[in-house]
Amino acid sequence: MSESVQSHVSEVSGAASAGTSVPRGRAKGEPRFPGGPQADPAGSHFERRIRSFQPRRSRVTAGQADALRRLWPVWGLDIDGQRVLDLAELFGNTRPVVLEIGFGMGEATAQMAADDPDTNILAVDVHTPGQGNLLNLADRNGLTNIRVGNGDAIILLREMLTPDSLDGLRVYFPDPWPKKRHHKRRLIQPEFLTLAATRLKPGAVLHCATDWEPYAEQMLDVLTAHPDYENTVPEGGFAPRPAFRPLTRFESQGLQKGHVVRDLLFRRIPHRDTDAGRG
Ligand SMILES: C[S@@+](CC[C@H](N)C(=O)[O-])C[C@H]1O[C@@H](n2cnc3c(N)ncnc32)[C@H](O)[C@@H]1O
Repeated sequence: MSESVQSHVSEVSGAASAGTSVPRGRAKGEPRFPGGPQADPAGSHFERRIRSFQPRRSRVTAGQADALRRLWPVWGLDIDGQRVLDLAELFGNTRPVVLEIGFGMGEATAQMAADDPDTNILAVDVHTPGQGNLLNLADRNGLTNIRVGNGDAIILLREMLTPDSLDGLRVYFPDPWPKKRHHKRRLIQPEFLTLAATRLKPGAVLHCATDWEPYAEQMLDVLTAHPDYENTVPEGGFAPRPAFRPLTRFESQGLQKGHVVRDLLFRRIPHRDTDAGRG
């Protein structure tokens, strides 16, 4: 599916030379792996905006590199902000599509895809090793209902998805950004919720989970106050952990530190504007 530019670079290792952001032999923005995900697909100067992630250059194993080379052209999607997606075309069917933002290494994503083959999962992250890992898991387990997005989920939501296109949204253990001066980087904020609501079908559920108590409280406050969502828990508050959500890697690290995990499941209610438009 990806229209990634084919690179003629034979670089395999993800190791960057110290002090430079671009390894030798590869022009800025070129994929690290031939035919693989582009570095910064939307362009680093696309806009000045506070991002919810820190660009990081992590080591890619030989297995992940192999998966990126073989499978990115089939199941990968660069979030370049340049085209509107036809999700039926992307998945090759019209089954419901759930977006997962920040899948990390993708183990929970692969598990959920295996458990529910009738749901398509569009899984997005900026983390190259995780993209390779998830492609490998999908391949090994014969999971055809996963597409792996590379880039900023905000660009995907804003530029590449049509209104009412998503049947669900999962944000599991988003970066907690614990320092006060970094709180503005947290993903779950009113503006994000407003944007996400436009892409969610009425009745679609936004499912968040976190092990960072202050962030959990913030999520509950902003979701409860937001006019486009209603809590699936009638009496309000956090939801019991649903059986369908597998333990994630980040979650198990939090549990080892004694953190309490919170789930929040909020339903998208119809937009008032949309209501008026539908008469
Ligand atoms: C703390 S990790 C959690 C990963 C996984 N969900 C887990 O529980 O193990 C958060 C992930 O979100 C990704 N992320 C943060 N902001 C993002 C954004 N705007 N678009 C795509 N991915 C994002 C990060 O790269 C990181 O991999």
